Amino acid sequence: MSWDQRFSGAEYHYGTAPADFVTRQAWRLAPGARVLSLAEGEGRNATWLAAQGAQVTALEASANARAKARALAVQRGVTIDVQAVDLAQYDWPEAEFDAVLACFIQFAAPPLRDAIFQGAARALRPGGVLLIHGFALRQPGYGTGGPQAPAQLYSLDLLRAAFPGWCVLHQADYDADLSEGAGHAGRAALIDFVARKPG
Ligand SMILES: C[S@@+](CC[C@H](N)C(=O)[O-])C[C@H]1O[C@@H](n2cnc3c(N)ncnc32)[C@H](O)[C@@H]1O
Repeated sequence: MSWDQRFSGAEYHYGTAPADFVTRQAWRLAPGARVLSLAEGEGRNATWLAAQGAQVTALEASANARAKARALAVQRGVTIDVQAVDLAQYDWPEAEFDAVLACFIQFAAPPLRDAIFQGAARALRPGGVLLIHGFALRQPGYGTGGPQAPAQLYSLDLLRAAFPGWCVLHQADYDADLSEGAGHAGRAALIDFVARKPG
């Protein structure tokens, strides 16, 4: 099923509430922080961050997801900049953002994932914060969402190695019960990784 098909219904596939990770880590963002959200989906995280005072640019490949993100922003009375972007083709800006959010972007196999991580590092200003949240390697055993391919899943070792020299502000590998629409429902194996770009 394509992402557009997945997002074709009236319901929000991952719900409209932000990921718990986002609510727990948002304190790191100063008021007015410029946040780049990668593969934002239907807007649950971007609109919540905007409501907290962030200036959010949301990149997303699916037209249906973008339309629903814009509708959610109207409903919540916030402004977000939703852009039609395929991350495989993106011309990454340089040092434009205070924070980059990558929440469940595990559609990316290692070559694209590496390119996205490099791009995220480029887009962050020195001292900016990278926030990554996704499924851990043991997630396929839970059957509650996410890719099956181990190469698309995360470990803390993998993420630390991807950002050598960065100051890790928070890292966690844990199980939790997700209730994020039909897309993520039930016990899940999760990774949090928050790190500061050097400089
Ligand atoms: C699992 S969903 C997560 C959505 C959102 N980050 C969230 O946590 O609710 C993955 C998202 O990646 C988007 N996506 C897939 N391939 C993409 C690509 N090449 N470029 C940009 N977005 C992509 C999908 O359309 C989908 O919205």
